[in-house]
Amino acid sequence: MKSTATKPAGERNPQATGPFLSVRDLKVHFSTEDGTVKAVDGLSFDLERGKTLGIVGESGSGKSVTNLTILGLHNPDSTAVEGSITLDGEELNGASEKTLEKLRGNKMSMIFQDA
Ligand SMILES: Nc1ncnc2c1ncn2[C@@H]1O[C@H](COP(=O)(O)OP(=O)(O)O)[C@@H](O)[C@H]1O
Ligand SMILES: [Mg+2]
Repeated sequence: MKSTATKPAGERNPQATGPFLSVRDLKVHFSTEDGTVKAVDGLSFDLERGKTLGIVGESGSGKSVTNLTILGLHNPDSTAVEGSITLDGEELNGASEKTLEKLRGNKMSMIFQDA
């Protein structure tokens, strides 16, 4: 019998191979009154399962924007996101708010700098 039960949101995807998080050619551009701000412009990295990845860079280099975009916490009206963000085999760029809500606090979360 085939189970149709929804698996818990935090459960590992047994079909997923490769890195837990993979970011490919990520571009995050904001449209502002003063023009386009290319906050992230072609970023790629992998985070392997069970590993820790530190991202360093000068202030304003796009660290926060990268992570906010992975969580889908950017303003969709003023932000153009290009590239691929896969988490445990699932594409997050273009994923529905419902999908992202299920993943937040389960497979991904953010500790804010000014919490
Ligand atoms: N909502 C936004 N609209 C326009 N520009 C933004 C927005 N959010 C961030 N930026 C700009 O994007 C760049 C990257 O910012 P940020 O990711 O916060 O840098 P970091 O975390 O590395 O210090 C900065 O130039 C910042 O001013
Ligand atoms: Mg920051």
